[in-house]
Amino acid sequence: MKLVIQPDAERAARLTAALIAKALREKPQLVLGLATGRTMESVYKNLVRMHREEGLDFSLCRTFNLDEYIGLPPDHPGSYRYYMNHHLFNHINIDKRNTFLPDGMAEDIPSSCLCYEERMEACGGVDIQLLGIGADGHIGFNEPLSALGSRTRDVSLDPSTLAVNGTLFKNPEEMPRRAITMGVGTILDAKETLLLVTGAAKAGILAKAVEGPVTSMISASALQFHPHCRTIVDEEAAAKLEGQAYYRWMFENEPEWAEYRGK
Ligand code: F6R
Repeated sequence: MKLVIQPDAERAARLTAALIAKALREKPQLVLGLATGRTMESVYKNLVRMHREEGLDFSLCRTFNLDEYIGLPPDHPGSYRYYMNHHLFNHINIDKRNTFLPDGMAEDIPSSCLCYEERMEACGGVDIQLLGIGADGHIGFNEPLSALGSRTRDVSLDPSTLAVNGTLFKNPEEMPRRAITMGVGTILDAKETLLLVTGAAKAGILAKAVEGPVTSMISASALQFHPHCRTIVDEEAAAKLEGQAYYRWMFENEPEWAEYRGK
């Protein structure tokens, strides 16, 4: 794993968006794995800005989201389809037919999960998977004890996730208790993973996930197995990392990061 510390959340989001933009310019048919949540909002703002100001082209890009609530129709403001349209898809030149989310309204959820995996595979697999981390260490909605080899499936949400995400619903009682998520194994199949973590509230779980032992209790720790994982964090989230000095040295010295320094 490569870990980069940026001065603040905005700079961390900007770097994350710049890495995605670079990959998209290099491969216009990029298969992009997407996440939702508060942390991602500024990444999407930056991508929208790059589309408007720099002509960043999404016309051939295909996207697969990590997760979706069960039982919310796509036009429900709490659904992740709504979130993605609102924050990204409505503002860029992507063909919405190339944007995929798990089907939270499917009658046969297991077979729709299988179809989701098959569709990803038919597109050649995810090139870059964008990730955030939950308070309980989840990536996607892979709550504690999610098997490290798990695939796309339906899950029960952890009470801590219900408490945090419930505040995003007008009426928190409306938040579904269950969701569909790519599995940890599905996420690890992406050719690259890009984890963005910001804010003091995530400092403890970030340190456990990246510097602690790999455990299904913290699904983000499985990223330690991924050969091409970049983790971008802000100073607040980095506060509890033991290896801070080394991570800073790498960012300042590795040629890979030269074009992003001082931006
Ligand atoms: C949502 C997702 C989740 C979030 C995580 C952090 O699609 O994949 O794993 O990334 O819950 O959410 P925020 O950014 O709201 O703290």
